[in-house]
Amino acid sequence: MRKLLLLALAGAAAWAADSCVDCHSKLEGAQQAPATAFTADIHRRAGFSCADCHGGDRSTSDMDASMSKARGFRGKIARKDVPQLCARCHSDANLIHKHKPQQRVDQYAQYQTSVHGKKLAAGDTAAANCVDCHSVHDIREVKNALSPVHPLRLPETCARCHADAAKMAKYKLDTHQFEQYRKSVHWEALAKRGDLSAPSCASCHGNHGAAPPQVSSVAAVCGTCHVLFEDLYKKSPHQPVFAAMGAGGCVVCHENHGIVKPSTEMLAGARSVCVQCHDAASAGGATAAKMAEQIGKLSAALDKSDGILRRARESGMEISEAQLKQIEGRENLIKSRVAVHAFQVAAVEKPVNDGMVIAGETWKAGENALKERDWRRVGLAAALVTILVTMTGLGLAIRSIERRPEAVDNPTGR
Ligand code: HEC
Ligand code: HEC
Ligand code: HEC
Ligand code: HEC
Ligand code: HEC
Ligand code: HEC
Ligand code: HEC
Ligand code: HEC
Ligand code: HEC
Repeated sequence: MRKLLLLALAGAAAWAADSCVDCHSKLEGAQQAPATAFTADIHRRAGFSCADCHGGDRSTSDMDASMSKARGFRGKIARKDVPQLCARCHSDANLIHKHKPQQRVDQYAQYQTSVHGKKLAAGDTAAANCVDCHSVHDIREVKNALSPVHPLRLPETCARCHADAAKMAKYKLDTHQFEQYRKSVHWEALAKRGDLSAPSCASCHGNHGAAPPQVSSVAAVCGTCHVLFEDLYKKSPHQPVFAAMGAGGCVVCHENHGIVKPSTEMLAGARSVCVQCHDAASAGGATAAKMAEQIGKLSAALDKSDGILRRARESGMEISEAQLKQIEGRENLIKSRVAVHAFQVAAVEKPVNDGMVIAGETWKAGENALKERDWRRVGLAAALVTILVTMTGLGLAIRSIERRPEAVDNPTGR
């Protein structure tokens, strides 16, 4: 028992006396920075220190002994060796699960299947390794908002390389992904509306592996979130044709990074996406025009109902029931936009017809409310006239009473 206690104390003393941190804190520049940054590092909180990655002996403050090869000192870690260094612990389930029982331990295995991992293994040290994404010496929990892999910060982390034309020149890779993504509906949902279910770079590309889980290729990723769209699209005549187009699927019409808010303009008119393959006279072109017309019709009818209901509400009428119905109408509009992905007019017509019935009812409700308001106004005017007449009558009566009392108040006539 006493022996155990002494051992524990000795352990605590060794932890407290960390010559690596002590000495490096007093150095300057690149030698001091790691020691300063390390106070925020999750590895420090997990009880690790410099020597757990760099080797050496932290129990002696003799510089040469502390950083000697004999005591396992490795010095600065070369870029090509970083993944193996991290994997020493992160692929060790026993060690990691002592700290976090649910934590995955396949990051290194996955990384080796990614473009980055393969390039690095082939000797190209410009490819991203663990510390390019996670930082070094101030590695934080991935859920921490300050972590460079947090969804809101990740685009900038990837952009450090992928938006840098000089770094990407030798790969002939486009450098516009970041710029386009920042204009997309996804970034808007994520950054402006705080919707963490919207994709950041790694949601589509995977963080460690080449493709995210459950899909064989990045092109198939949209369906993991937009399930209804994918179900329809899969059965459409486009699926087999687009699949053969390489990065096929949804991105043929929507793009991958710069996805903008869709509208009927994608179907018909100057900005139609269909015209690249179907001219207006073809079956595809005619379908596109009819679908646009249907959706446009419902959208306009709902807007019209919205207008009359707004006027009714502003004049104080109770129209909550019609407003609820209107929400149902809007749902049919959304359904019709989803149905576009069957690329059949009939599929779009169904929700449009349902929606038109509702729009008709809500317009009627608005119209009735306005009529009732007019009747009430007539009623009010009549009431006002009655009141006015009564008040005038009362006034006259009071005046005639006021004239008489002199005789009563002053009976003596003094
Ligand atoms: C008494 C001071 C002192 C102690 C103790 C010390 N260092 Fe250093 N360390 C230095 C100085 C000075 C340098 C820069 C000069 C050099 O590279 O020798 C340095 C350099 C380094 C480098 C960079 C090597 C490179 O190749 O760029 C690493 C990594 C490092 N130390 C880690 C450690 C670790 C880990 C420990 C503890 C096991 C430790 N140091 C203990 C003073 C110290
Ligand atoms: C989780 C592992 C890990 C821990 C813990 C760690 N380092 Fe490092 N350190 C690295 C890696 C990896 C690199 C190489 C980074 C790179 O390629 O940019 C590095 C680089 C360095 C360098 C070279 C910096 C340069 O710009 O040349 C120094 C000095 C250093 N570490 C000191 C320390 C000190 C001091 C501590 C403790 C306070 C420490 N490290 C803790 C992994 C670690
Ligand atoms: C291309 C960037 C990138 C590289 C390279 C990378 N990671 Fe990650 N890592 C991420 C992202 C993104 C997450 C997930 C963040 C989230 O869940 O929001 C993550 C999550 C993690 C986690 C938390 C658990 C988990 O799996 O979600 C650990 C641990 C981790 N990475 C370790 C590593 C190690 C070790 C390496 C090197 C073998 C590495 N990472 C390489 C981007 C990267
Ligand atoms: C000496 C063992 C060890 C080494 C080496 C090591 N780690 Fe860790 N790391 C841990 C432990 C233990 C935790 C805490 C458990 C956890 O949160 O996953 C951790 C946590 C993390 C986390 C936070 C995960 C989360 O929960 O959000 C990241 C990210 C991470 N390490 C990345 C790295 C990277 C990158 C390297 C290589 C530069 C590295 N680690 C090297 C043991 C190690
Ligand atoms: C340290 C720089 C660096 C960082 C950071 C980085 N990458 Fe890369 N990435 C590269 C290099 C270099 C290649 C190899 C290019 C090639 O061979 O085509 C590459 C390749 C890729 C490819 C394959 C491109 C292709 O079709 O060949 C994708 C996708 C990719 N990176 C996505 C990401 C994402 C997403 C992130 C952030 C989570 C990221 N990268 C962070 C340097 C980086
Ligand atoms: C909504 C999903 C999605 C998001 C978010 C996304 N990508 Fe992509 N990305 C794709 C698809 C799909 C491809 C095409 C894949 C193919 O060709 O097989 C692609 C291709 C790439 C390529 C290869 C070169 C190219 O442009 O074709 C790189 C590099 C890349 N993305 C980086 C990024 C970066 C960096 C981010 C974050 C700023 C990001 N991506 C966000 C889906 C996405
Ligand atoms: C990680 C989940 C996820 C992935 C993967 C994903 N999205 Fe999204 N997407 C969302 C979320 C969340 C929104 C915002 C919700 C909204 O505005 O209705 C959104 C919005 C959209 C919108 C705009 C919808 C609207 O009504 O304005 C389009 C179009 C879109 N995504 C297409 C795609 C395409 C194409 C892909 C594949 C390249 C894709 N998405 C991949 C989650 C995802
Ligand atoms: C052949 C072209 C084409 C393909 C392929 C395609 N879409 Fe669309 N998508 C459209 C058009 C056109 C609209 C706009 C309909 C409208 O607003 O009138 C649209 C609208 C959308 C919307 C917005 C719906 C809304 O409520 O406004 C989402 C989300 C979407 N598509 C996702 C996907 C996904 C996911 C895939 C792949 C499974 C996909 N699309 C494949 C043409 C396409
Ligand atoms: C990249 C080219 C491409 C784009 C863009 C495209 N289509 Fe198609 N579409 C095709 C091909 C190829 C077929 C024929 C498939 C077959 O023969 O089975 C087809 C078939 C169709 C069909 C079945 C009738 C027919 O012509 O065989 C309809 C309807 C259709 N597309 C509508 C659309 C609409 C609406 C859009 C725009 C939202 C669109 N397509 C965008 C290539 C495209």
